[in-house]
Amino acid sequence: MVGPSHIHGRGVFAARRIRRGTRIVEYKGERISNREADRRYDDTTMKRHHTFLFNLDKKTVVDGAISAGGGDASYINHSCDPNCEAIIRAKRIYIHAKRTIEPGEELAYDYQYERTGKNDDKLEKFYFCKCGALNCRGSIMKPATKKLRRPSGSRSSRATSRSKRRPVMTRS
Ligand SMILES: C[S@@+](CC[C@H](N)C(=O)[O-])C[C@H]1O[C@@H](n2cnc3c(N)ncnc32)[C@H](O)[C@@H]1O
Ligand SMILES: [Zn+2]
Repeated sequence: MVGPSHIHGRGVFAARRIRRGTRIVEYKGERISNREADRRYDDTTMKRHHTFLFNLDKKTVVDGAISAGGGDASYINHSCDPNCEAIIRAKRIYIHAKRTIEPGEELAYDYQYERTGKNDDKLEKFYFCKCGALNCRGSIMKPATKKLRRPSGSRSSRATSRSKRRPVMTRS
């Protein structure tokens, strides 16, 4: 169920008890290039960060805006202590329960926006987190301590690229 969230704007809430490991919903939307994603959502001109983008792979981004074919999953907010995780299977993004979720609980996964290595302090403020978890790291970016695994030639190694600062997920 989509409804008002204490974290941000609208969020998604469990209508019933959801068992750990359950595939809850697919993150749907239009498949677009990094360049098109940057064109549609220009962080540099946004007063406050707000997008519906999800990195599917190095070249493909899913735009989950309702106007781009998105569904309820597009309203799932970020938490630093998430009860869900996003998993890619056969080039589709699914939201799974990380633990048992009780009726009425807000669903959330860890967006883990990529760090560029440059301006990270400033970016942490731009991508500030309001999840309210006891272990909130204050930003929806990846934890600073985690070592980045970047494939060689990945665009994310370019400090100026904005394209990787979108939710990333567990691959299986
Ligand atoms: C896919 S939307 C999620 C739905 C959003 N709440 C809405 O009403 O449109 C992602 C955006 O929600 C906001 N957001 C999600 N989780 C957040 C959090 N923990 N703290 C601050 N903003 C958050 C950010 O603006 C982010 O770009
Ligand atoms: Zn947080």
